Amino acid sequence: MGNSAPQLDDVPVRPDGRRLRRMAEHFHRYGMVTVTDLIGEATRGQVRAETDRLLGSHAERRDLRLATTGFTRRSMSVVPSEVIRDSGGPIADLYSHPDLVRALEDIAGERLYPCPKSDENFLITRQERRGDTHGWHWGDFSFALIWVVQAPPIDVGGLLQCVPHTSWDKSSPQIHRYLVDNPIHTYHFASGDVYFLRTDTTLHRTVPLREDATRIILNMTWAGARDLNRDIAADDRWWDDPGVSAASSIEE
Ligand SMILES: [Fe+2]
Repeated sequence: MGNSAPQLDDVPVRPDGRRLRRMAEHFHRYGMVTVTDLIGEATRGQVRAETDRLLGSHAERRDLRLATTGFTRRSMSVVPSEVIRDSGGPIADLYSHPDLVRALEDIAGERLYPCPKSDENFLITRQERRGDTHGWHWGDFSFALIWVVQAPPIDVGGLLQCVPHTSWDKSSPQIHRYLVDNPIHTYHFASGDVYFLRTDTTLHRTVPLREDATRIILNMTWAGARDLNRDIAADDRWWDDPGVSAASSIEE
């Protein structure tokens, strides 16, 4: 633990067994579950303060489309993983907090492992302009915990949409086919909410912002055992490098 370690008795509150089972069932049925209640108010406040601080000094703008997800759009500012990890703040301590990881493992029904790609442990994103969106995509690794630091009003956009029980073929993502063939579940979160997402088998996006507005999240990524020895194609890691070969400009 670093100097700014979160208050141990505040993260996270272990829920009772029946509640945890309901959360696990929701997670497996829908590919996501809201876990705000697991995490104390003070801890969520620390994450918000650190996220705002890092955005103030390290935000980098991204505007591109990505071939491996059928040219869906990424338009937002980001703070890369290494900046967050090296900042010495509470985020890296939280990521390895045994109580937090254990609660998420109880929901997932399997072990979580630190993401083997160091550029993907963390990501802060800030959508800020009309049209900003994190377009339809899957994750390379199985699990993400999303801290909604700031959410716009429901009518403005930024909503999470999910199509669970799908899979990512990077050479033929077939996203519109999945949208036609399956129900799309849409979620609105308030500032301060936290949700747990099964990222590799849940096709997901955020609804584009209707007007200039602010939507800030912190993403923490974990691997499942199945992910540890997989070869991850490295040409679409747009958050780390906007010049990756799978990226094209949004005008194309
Ligand atoms: Fe995602």
